[in-house]
Amino acid sequence: MKDLTPPRDTLDPIEIASRDEIAALQLERMKWSLRHACDNVPHYKASFDAAGVHPDDLKDLSDLAKFPFTVKSDLRDNYPFGMFAVPRDQVARIHASSGTTGQPTVVGYTARDLDTWAQVVARSLRASGLRPGDLLHNAYGYGLFTGGLGIQLGADKLGLTTVPISGGMTQRQVRLIEDFGAKGITVTPSYALSILDEYAAQGRDPRLSPLQVGIFGAEPWTNAMRRQIEEAFDMHAVDIYGLSEVMGPGVANECVETKDGLHIWEDHFYPEVIDPETGAVLPEGALGELVFTSLTKEAFPIVRYRTRDLTRLLPGTARSMRRMEKVTGRSDDMIILRGVNVFPTQIEEQLMTVTALAPHFQLELTRVGHRDEMRVKVEHLPATAGEAEAAGRELSSRIKQVVGVTVVVEVSAPGGVARSQGKAVRILDNRPKD
Ligand code: DLL
Repeated sequence: MKDLTPPRDTLDPIEIASRDEIAALQLERMKWSLRHACDNVPHYKASFDAAGVHPDDLKDLSDLAKFPFTVKSDLRDNYPFGMFAVPRDQVARIHASSGTTGQPTVVGYTARDLDTWAQVVARSLRASGLRPGDLLHNAYGYGLFTGGLGIQLGADKLGLTTVPISGGMTQRQVRLIEDFGAKGITVTPSYALSILDEYAAQGRDPRLSPLQVGIFGAEPWTNAMRRQIEEAFDMHAVDIYGLSEVMGPGVANECVETKDGLHIWEDHFYPEVIDPETGAVLPEGALGELVFTSLTKEAFPIVRYRTRDLTRLLPGTARSMRRMEKVTGRSDDMIILRGVNVFPTQIEEQLMTVTALAPHFQLELTRVGHRDEMRVKVEHLPATAGEAEAAGRELSSRIKQVVGVTVVVEVSAPGGVARSQGKAVRILDNRPKD
């Protein structure tokens, strides 16, 4: 793999500023953001009043803990534009979550917000090793989802050549990566695995592909998966994080030279990690729920938004800005199986150690009598049909030993596990609804 470290003089000065400079900028911006939210969004005025706090109470960054949290249902209750802090005609762009369950979550951006978004995504792509003039194959979905268009904004800002292919039509994905000579690919890790399968189907060697870096996010993935993808494509694999409510992709990104967690672009997004039970702010290094406050957003300021993503905050390394560890999972995706907490990423880690099995998986929950059961649906690799049964036994014993739960492993033939073209559906909950 080539060294893709960006030259230091191409970084934004704030990326390598001192902690004092960063904190001073954050305080000034946070004061503005709280006031902007309170003055222009009735929901924030009401929630601040109910908590007995006022933006003037923020004298120091730690005073943020006095302010109330914002949760997903607050956004739903204010559907569609109730959380906007500017008149609708000043909103340049709207994105929305798919809203498979009930009301979609709607977010908005002014022209200046779009420019901020472009800057943080450009910074993310640069941290990943891309430089002006490089060709990027952008396989995140375009549309209301923030992935495709968000990456596009940053790629334009950085001066890349973008191929806006979006998700799907996997045969064509491989063909265009090869024909156009893509240096970078932006895609969910689960869909990258489908692209990898397609290389095999076309009899092409992915290690000979022009790709030098993959920028993977929008869903949890493990370091074990990183090693597998890096080996398969002979390229770097870095992590990009974000969520629509806070901006979209580009809230945090790994640096290709260290790959040690994601630097949060703290000049625009202020992170906290809290105890999900008590709401107390946890010290650096402790595992808990990630919470964000936007510092510069105009159309859709967000105060102490509970992401439900579990991670820990760590000090800066390649940049002065703090890092978040790779996300363990969403609290919503935590399965409690007979009293043991299980995240899909823990299953992924074990799956990656069984060489006869493909990296695709889904977890099906069923109820047998009064007992919940988890079926781990995996598939064997094309050449390992004879070893399938033993591989299944190996996986279930590793899960038992390391994760501490007894599961049923179901090994099917290649192609037996449902594929995604965007975010993978990891959990199929087929338990009766009580
Ligand atoms: O998924 C934004 C995005 C697009 C990020 C493309 C990265 C790349 P939402 O659809 O609002 O936005 O979903 C946000 O996805 O709260 C996490 O649970 C999950 N997520 C996003 N990035 C990561 C990541 C986009 N790198 C939700 N690791 C977040 C783990 C991630 N989970």
